[in-house]
This record gives sequence, structure tokens and C-alpha cells, in this order.
Amino acid sequence: MKRILVTGANGQLGAEILAQLTPIETLKAIGTTRDRLDLADPESIRCAIVELEPDIIISCGAYTAVDRAETEPELAQAINAIAPGLLAEATAQLGAKLIHISTDYVFDGQKGSPYLETDPTKAIGAYGQTKLDGERAILAADPTAAIVRTAWVYGVGGTGNFVKTMLRLGKDREELRVVADQIGSPSWTGDIATAIVDLALDHGDASGVFHFTNSGVASWYDFAVAIFEEAAALGLPLAIDRVIPITTADYPTPAQRPAYSVLAGGKLATLRGAIAPHWRDGLRSMLKELKSQA
Ligand SMILES: NC(=O)c1ccc[n+]([C@@H]2O[C@H](COP(=O)([O-])OP(=O)(O)OC[C@H]3O[C@@H](n4cnc5c(N)ncnc54)[C@H](OP(=O)(O)O)[C@@H]3O)[C@@H](O)[C@H]2O)c1
Repeated sequence: MKRILVTGANGQLGAEILAQLTPIETLKAIGTTRDRLDLADPESIRCAIVELEPDIIISCGAYTAVDRAETEPELAQAINAIAPGLLAEATAQLGAKLIHISTDYVFDGQKGSPYLETDPTKAIGAYGQTKLDGERAILAADPTAAIVRTAWVYGVGGTGNFVKTMLRLGKDREELRVVADQIGSPSWTGDIATAIVDLALDHGDASGVFHFTNSGVASWYDFAVAIFEEAAALGLPLAIDRVIPITTADYPTPAQRPAYSVLAGGKLATLRGAIAPHWRDGLRSMLKELKSQA
């Protein structure tokens, strides 16, 4: 029976991947959190892998605090760059498969058309740079590894995301100001997990870099408007009356973000024979799930 280790099991994506793997009776899914496999501690990584003997590692654990990474780059580097390299050394040694999750923030956002897997990378913040270093460490240590870059992730699991923030604020406030000059593809963990599980179980030989997001593009402003429209249609409690588009310059953050980070998903879509669902469908599915859990 195949043993699949999912790191970052309490995170948004890790929790969803585990939820999709666990019911499959022909494999054993094992989720780890930092108490069993601490990505900041190389010895903890080695011990956990020796103990758990995975056939596949799906690497979802990461330092994801984009702004905080600017002031603690060493910790972000340990978790996002050194740890993935160690995972890749382990999978290369064991003959196991590594599927690692990376980000649109490896790009500078200046291209203006969807980024291909082969486009030159150039991170503009500490978080993106550590994730890029992680990709490089993996590819150097284990050429059979697959790296899936995704973007603008949200789901019901994990501690927080843009959708949950909008719903929380929109419950009490009549007016919200949201950035309208950053463009990307909002991506639901349900759809990302389906693609990754598919890659792990049905395309085990696929290696190298892949892009997966939901289809379609939006600004954060477009996304916020859609969240409130879909939430209202489901009868979720809302006080919001107006969403006002603002610029990135109006909402300064410690870390710079790419202005345009749409990822072209054709390579993985061709491999899987499946086009990613549109982001608005993903949003609707997430909100329905959230409502059913309320
Ligand atoms: N969120 C996004 O918008 C986005 C966009 C593009 C790509 N990605 C990538 O997608 C992947 C999944 O992201 P996500 O949104 O699911 O992130 P998340 O919800 O923040 O989950 C990350 C998980 O990693 C765990 N973690 C952090 N430090 C750790 C350590 N030292 N040892 C073990 N586990 C540790 C966290 O555990 P604790 O809860 O204990 O801190 C958390 O459960 C990441 O690789 C991320 O870079 C995310």
C-alpha cells in the first residue's frame, strides 16, 4: 500500500489534500504538522522521513506570512528553501516522489500576459525569493520531483485567507476599500487539491515545474465584489453596501507584490486532460462548503 506524506497538514491546502486522500482505501495518507515534522529543523525532517517511509511526499508546509518574511528572512529561508531541498534529497535517496507547492510570487509581475513554466523568474520580496530558492534546491537534488506553482489560495481549512477576511469585515462594515491594480487567479483549495492528487496518483512520472490555478483572472477588487455577490446569494450575513477600488499605492504593505501574476496552466491541463474550473465556480463551491459548516 502506497504511503503518502502530506506536510503542513493544518494549512489550507494540506488539510484539503488530506481530506481528498484519506477516503482512498488503497493508500495510506499521513499528515504531519510542525510537532512531528518541523520544517525549520533538519533533524526533525530526517527523523520523520525515516520513521514514516513515504512513497510520495506532498509538500504543502511553508512559511506563508508574506509581509513578516521581510523581517524574518532566515526563518522563511529555513522553511521555504532549505527544508524543500532536504525533502528532495530524501526522496532521491529513497526512490520516492516529491510534489512540492510553490507560488506565483516567484515572478515580478511585469510580464502582462500569463506566465509560462519556462518564463524567467524574478522574485520581488523575501517570501517569493525563499520559495524560488526552494524550487532550485529541489530541482538540484531530485530531478524526478514535480513543483506545482499556484496563486491566490483560499479554502475553508487553515487559519485565514482573503475570502474569510472579506466575509468577516463585510458582516459589520458598509464600505470596504480593496486594491484593484493587482491581477491574478483566485484559486480554491478544493480544485488545487484535486489537481495535485491527480498528479500524484495518475501521473507519477511527471516531473519539473507545473502551474495550476483556477481559470480566469480578477483583481482583488473584482474578487471582493464576487465574494459579496455569491455570499449574498447564499444568504450569508452581510452589512456591506459598497466596495471601493483603490490602488496598491493607497494600501502600502511591507512586502511588494507582483502587479500581474496570472499563471498559464496549459501544461498540466494537457497532461491531465482537464481544464481548471473558473475561479467564480471555485468561489461558489467554497462558500457553499463554508455555509454547510456554519
Ligand atoms: N496562500 C496563498 O495564497 C498561496 C499562494 C501561492 C502559493 N501558496 C503555497 O501553497 C502552499 C500551501 O499554502 P497554504 O495557503 O495552505 O498555507 P498555510 O495555510 O499557511 O499552511 C502552511 C502550513 O505550513 C505549516 N508550517 C509553517 N511552518 C512550519 C514548520 N516549521 N514546520 C512544519 N509546518 C510548518 C503551517 O503550520 P502552522 O499552522 O503551525 O503555522 C501551516 O499549517 C505553500 O507552499 C504556499 O507557499 C500559497
